[in-house]
Amino acid sequence: MLPDATPDEGGTAAPSSRDRRSAEPIRLRADLRSALPDATAAVAVTAAVFAFLWARMESGSSATVAVMPFMDDAGTYWMYLLSQAFGWSGLLWAWGTVMLGLLLSGQRPARLPASRQTLERWHRTTSLTTMALMFAHALMFAAELVRYEDKLAWAGRLWAGFADSFVPGWYDSGTGRIAIPIGQGALYLAIPLGLLFYVRHRIGANTWRRLHRFVIVVYVLSVWHTLLYGTNVWYGEWPRTVLWLLQLPVAVLLLLRLLRPARRAERLGVPGRRAGGSVPGWVLRAAGRVAAAAVVVGLLVVVASGHDGGRDRPAETPASSPHPKESD
Ligand code: HEM
Repeated sequence: MLPDATPDEGGTAAPSSRDRRSAEPIRLRADLRSALPDATAAVAVTAAVFAFLWARMESGSSATVAVMPFMDDAGTYWMYLLSQAFGWSGLLWAWGTVMLGLLLSGQRPARLPASRQTLERWHRTTSLTTMALMFAHALMFAAELVRYEDKLAWAGRLWAGFADSFVPGWYDSGTGRIAIPIGQGALYLAIPLGLLFYVRHRIGANTWRRLHRFVIVVYVLSVWHTLLYGTNVWYGEWPRTVLWLLQLPVAVLLLLRLLRPARRAERLGVPGRRAGGSVPGWVLRAAGRVAAAAVVVGLLVVVASGHDGGRDRPAETPASSPHPKESD
């Protein structure tokens, strides 16, 4: 999840302060070490969300239980709760790393909260943490399925957990038929698009930059997956509103990034002229800006109108009905 952190690399502008200091490429191992404090904070956030979700289940206010009454037992379904908690910390870290990437790849703001070098490092470490959190979310979901399928032999249980969580198209129940492949798409795209940064000296900075741009797709898929499938944002209540609201700064920064790119080659210019590039290229860039502006307007409409796709919570939770097992 590393949007154009170093827009000047391989481009026309001056090299960043890091590059001037040292020609050594940034190594994955060094970044993994630097990501430790960041990852520790992410684990603490995950633990806090887990405790919150557990408390909601115990108090009877859990939206997850309202959607799936058979889950009304935090002690049994703790792995599911942990998967949800990793999903939320993953989404929060994805939000942070995308915001940092957009901040760094647009025209330099007059004031930054920290030095550019520090922000670039945070961007790289938070993106590594995001990938780990996304993976932990899917892994805990798989673990819960393995626990749940207790009538199958071990090989069958392991396969059911793995295939439903990681094989696109395998999960065949309800909204998950669409939402799970969207989540898998986000996870499977995040890993190469994020890690290519560490081999950019082999593939070329321009190729890396072109590919890395698509990391925004990872973020969009993650939010889409959550809105579609997250039981804690199932109903039109405050968690869903907050989730929509959080997308507003991302959309505004994306729009600013497109309107005022750091690299001259990405500016809109006049079509057909040298600075404006080819006419199809110009049309594509202009369409991107219009789409980003439309997203900002769309988000404002959703938040202001309250038409956010949330369902109404039933007055009474339906009686518990067990979730069918693979062996049933
Ligand atoms: C292999 C990929 C994935 C699988 C199998 C998966 C599975 C699931 C499942 C089963 C749920 C429903 C949980 C519930 O009852 O609320 C869910 C919700 C969620 N997922 Fe994923 N997911 C995947 C990828 C992702 C990614 C990449 C993100 C981004 C960080 C993400 C973030 C979330 C969030 C925030 C929720 C809402 C949890 C809640 O409502 O408490 N997921 N996911």
